[in-house]
Amino acid sequence: MLPNPKPEIQNRIRLTAEEGAWLAGEAGPAIRRAMEIVAALAQIYGAERLTPVASVQISGVSYRNIGAAGLAFLRKWADEGASVRVPTTLNPAAMDLEAWAEQGFDPTFATQQQAVIAAFARMGVGGAGGESGPFPTCTPYLVGNVPRLGESVAWAESSAVAYANSVLGARTNREGGPGAIAAALVGRTGAYGLHLAENRRATLHVRVRVALRTISDYSALGALVGQRAGSRIPYFEGLPLERGAPLWEENLKALGAALAATGAVGVFHVAGVTPEALAGPVLAPAHETTTVADLAPGYAALTDAAARPALIWIGCPHASLAEIALVAELVRGKRLRLPLWITCARPVKAAAVAQGLAGDIAAAGGRLYADACLAIAPVRDLGFAAVMTPSAKGACYLRNLAGVSARFGTLEECIHMAVTGGE
Ligand code: F3S
Repeated sequence: MLPNPKPEIQNRIRLTAEEGAWLAGEAGPAIRRAMEIVAALAQIYGAERLTPVASVQISGVSYRNIGAAGLAFLRKWADEGASVRVPTTLNPAAMDLEAWAEQGFDPTFATQQQAVIAAFARMGVGGAGGESGPFPTCTPYLVGNVPRLGESVAWAESSAVAYANSVLGARTNREGGPGAIAAALVGRTGAYGLHLAENRRATLHVRVRVALRTISDYSALGALVGQRAGSRIPYFEGLPLERGAPLWEENLKALGAALAATGAVGVFHVAGVTPEALAGPVLAPAHETTTVADLAPGYAALTDAAARPALIWIGCPHASLAEIALVAELVRGKRLRLPLWITCARPVKAAAVAQGLAGDIAAAGGRLYADACLAIAPVRDLGFAAVMTPSAKGACYLRNLAGVSARFGTLEECIHMAVTGGE
């Protein structure tokens, strides 16, 4: 270990010789700045050391959110020759990087969004699973970036963080935008929070006493429990879920996304299903207990009843191939009166095209868009003042980030709305 060369980064954090050299600027200005960010965050959160990470997932990709200042920040780092040290993927952009014109995006906006992606590409940010990229997605674990049990990663997207920690048993805090970029450049993050086993025990025992039939039911459950949990760690008992059963991962994907949207939940455990709950007791001795016996308030709280949807959005978090197959099944042979957009990772779209699912959906009038997230898109400028979705997180963010009205319903209700147009 070296003495810390930066006086403002106190000696509380033990750095390795290599980390100390980076902080001293021996690997250039970009790495020095990245080390300063990583070490400063580690100190703020009380870490005693840094931990290597196996992969990084970066948020703050939409040009609508980061704007010209954010683009300049990324270009500066890329101009300095910064390059990621570990496999790194991107959260969604505002638009499909290829089909943006069909979506109705303004060419000026599209050019800036492409420039953001290009800056990340210059830093070596790629696709998941070793594929070339970048292809932005909030579900890197569906397309090859699957952290192992107990492995530390530095991911930024809250739903992906919940999935990695809970379903995969990997370890990550929710990284901020610049923090995640810095972590990618040095392959390190602070060893605090959910990287430490002692901080992963459940403090809220959730007794589920209601039937869960659909993926959106898990989403509604997550919305209700997220509100109650805040930043506590829920332990679910009573979920009708078996590891390996059809859609078990999709159900947990929806549950975790909603928990992280209405609360600040970074990890949850499910009795008999998630890896840490399977390995032994996960409930902390000091915990509270809550019971969920009705999902209706979860749906109602995220529905603007008077709003008439102009668009149906599926794929928040990005849809899996199995979810796209469900949609294809429901729309096959029908003619949709409202636009139906399904967002997913680019490789998932390619698989859906190859299997004919995209064709079935297109024949009904629906579209599959890769790379995109509507919550961070200028939805109103695209002509949609109200959107319906089977995702609690989607409804929550459509309201709070995109500034449009939302309706939250089951997948069947969403497709019914698309077919009838609400009449
Ligand atoms: Fe993904 Fe956007 Fe939903 S990032 S989880 S599609 S709000």
